Parts: sequence; C-alpha cells; structure tokens
Amino acid sequence: SDIEKGTYPYYMLKEIDDQPTVMRRISQEYTNTLGDAVIDEKIIEKITDSDRIYIVACGTSYNAGWVGKALLERMTHIPVEVHLSSEFGYNMPLLSEKPFFIFLSQSGETADSRQVLVQTNELGLPSLTLTNVAGSTLSREADYTLLLHAGPEIAVASTKAYTAQIAVLAVLAKAVGDNKGNQSSLDFDIAHELSVIAAVMETIIDEKMVISQLVEDYLSTTRNAFYIGRGVDYYVSMEASLKLKEISYIQAEGFAAGELKHGTIALIEEGTPVFGVITDQKTAAHTRGNLKEVESRGAHNFVIALASLAKVTDQLIIPDVYPLLSPLVSIIPTQLIAYFATLQRGYDVDKPRNLAKSVTVE
Ligand code: G6P
Repeated sequence: SDIEKGTYPYYMLKEIDDQPTVMRRISQEYTNTLGDAVIDEKIIEKITDSDRIYIVACGTSYNAGWVGKALLERMTHIPVEVHLSSEFGYNMPLLSEKPFFIFLSQSGETADSRQVLVQTNELGLPSLTLTNVAGSTLSREADYTLLLHAGPEIAVASTKAYTAQIAVLAVLAKAVGDNKGNQSSLDFDIAHELSVIAAVMETIIDEKMVISQLVEDYLSTTRNAFYIGRGVDYYVSMEASLKLKEISYIQAEGFAAGELKHGTIALIEEGTPVFGVITDQKTAAHTRGNLKEVESRGAHNFVIALASLAKVTDQLIIPDVYPLLSPLVSIIPTQLIAYFATLQRGYDVDKPRNLAKSVTVE
C-alpha cells in the first residue's frame, strides 16, 4: 500500500519513485477526457475576480510556490506574489484591492502558515489551501481546498509533495486561464504534458545508479555545494539545495546564476561542486557563462540540462518537456543527489537531526 516502505531501504527513495504515479493520478483527478482542467467553479470564479494572488508557505512548499507563480502568471495574467509565512504574518505588505490567498502546505498543519490564515480570515479575504491531508487544519479553515493526491509522505525531506503542488498549481492555472479565454492557457494541453512528465520522471529514476556514482565523484568529501539557475531553474536550485542540506548536512545554497558574481563567487574554491540547472532556452547561454566563470575559479561543475539545450559534456541530460513544467523533472535528479549523498555519508535519510515533518510552533 501507499504507506508501506516494502523493499525500499528508506521512505524517501520510495517517495521519489512514487512521483510518476502521482503525476498520473493528479491528471486523472483534475482533468477530463477533453483535456480540460476540472476544478471547483467557485474557486475559478474567485481567482478570476481577484487582482492579485498571494501564495503563502514554508520550506519546500514555499519553493514550489515560486514555480506556481510562473505558471499562474503565464496562464491567468494575474500578478502573483510568493511569501514566507513566518515573515508575512508579522510584516504584512500592503495588499491589493482584491487579493486571493493560496496556502501551500503538505501537512496542512504548519503553525506559521496558519497564523497568516487566521489573519486573512479576520480580514474576510478569500483563501484556498493546497494540501496533501484532507481535513487538516489549513484545509478546514480556508474557504476552499485542493488535495494533492500524493499519498502519505513519511520522509521528513519532502519530495512528491513538491512535485504534486506544482502539478496541481499548473492545473489551477489552466482552469483560471481558460476561464479568462487566455490563448497561452487554451494552448496548454495539461493532461498531455503531465503524461509526458510522468514518462520523463521514469527515465530519470531509472538512471539512479548513474546518479549515485556521480554523487560519489562530486560530493564525497565536500563541505559545501551550490546550485545555480535562472527563472524556474533558480526556483529548482532553491529546492535542490534545501534537499541536499537538510539531510546530508552539506552546506548547500541555491543562487540566481547571475547574482553569483555579486558576492557568492568569493566562496568558490578548487573543487567546490556547482550544479547548474539549464532548462530555459531564454537563459541557457547566460547560465552557461556563469558556469564558465566558476569553473575558471576551480569549481567542479555538474550540469543538469534539457536535451534541446544540452552539450555532450553535461553530466545529466533530461528529455524535453513543456518549458514551465521543467521543474517537475529537473528536481528529480537533485532529490536523488541528496538521497545518495546522505546514504554515502552514513546518515539517516528519513530522519534528519533537528527537523520535524510538520512544525506546529511559530
Ligand atoms: C517542515 C518540513 C518541511 C516542510 C515544511 C512546511 O519544516 O520539514 O519539509 O516543507 O515544514 O511544511 P508543510 O506541511 O506546511 O508543507
């Protein structure tokens, strides 16, 4: 069953492997045979009627929110802001006239996010929770809920909830965009794209032993590592570095590739691993330039690229997918990188020190 680890040594590996199934399940739950997104009409109307979407979340869910912003803005043409719950609640920015709130929370129990929802409820503002847990606090207290259908996530390091959040946000973006008659949205065949994503996820997962070997070459002795990218590749870099640091204890940071030279490049030494994520045609050449800069300062570069943008020397080449959905596939090798780095260092993959699956204090 969903909650059994079966022959897997760790839940995290099982949950990484679950992701193609979760993509297909989300497609089944939220699209019809015509390829339309199927979402509660009231949610679509409320969002269509809003002038700004505020995504509020913590941790991995926050990182998923950034990808959601890119998708929502492209399809709905409504501006989207992404905020950390623990910041937003105490320093609330000036809100637009007709805000709509989206809370992202795997558990639906995170106290930092709940304190924001309590405030938006007091202000009488509309809200939607995307969560993996039906009946959770954030689900009960928001106006609307969309379930992630990822199945129970047991490992502390979140994997399939991240990809599920992005996929459900993509469906939501399509539903609202279609309702507004936006061409970008009408052209977006979500059911087809998610089936491509599921198949590509499987190809990457099948290469896990290759990734394990690369991890030994790159990360066996390092104290730190960097992920860099631009746009959605930057958003993936933030999540990839969180994954790596939270379980392997390697100090890892995700940076906007172009920002590196404004400070962080000072940290690059002989052999420092730098992972470049390249899935966006607009920015590929610039990120390549940034990788050259770090390489000439000694960095040990590891490039994860979509096939159409790849060079033969790249370490990991991923079949092409719909551009804004690339985080759903580029994140997979980074989850496996974190997993194998942790295994190789002899730590407990599922239960990192100092961390809890769900944090119910502010
Ligand atoms: C904890 C977990 C993280 C998670 C974050 C937000 O810190 O260790 O993996 O991303 O909470 O959790 P939520 O359930 O709100 O998505």
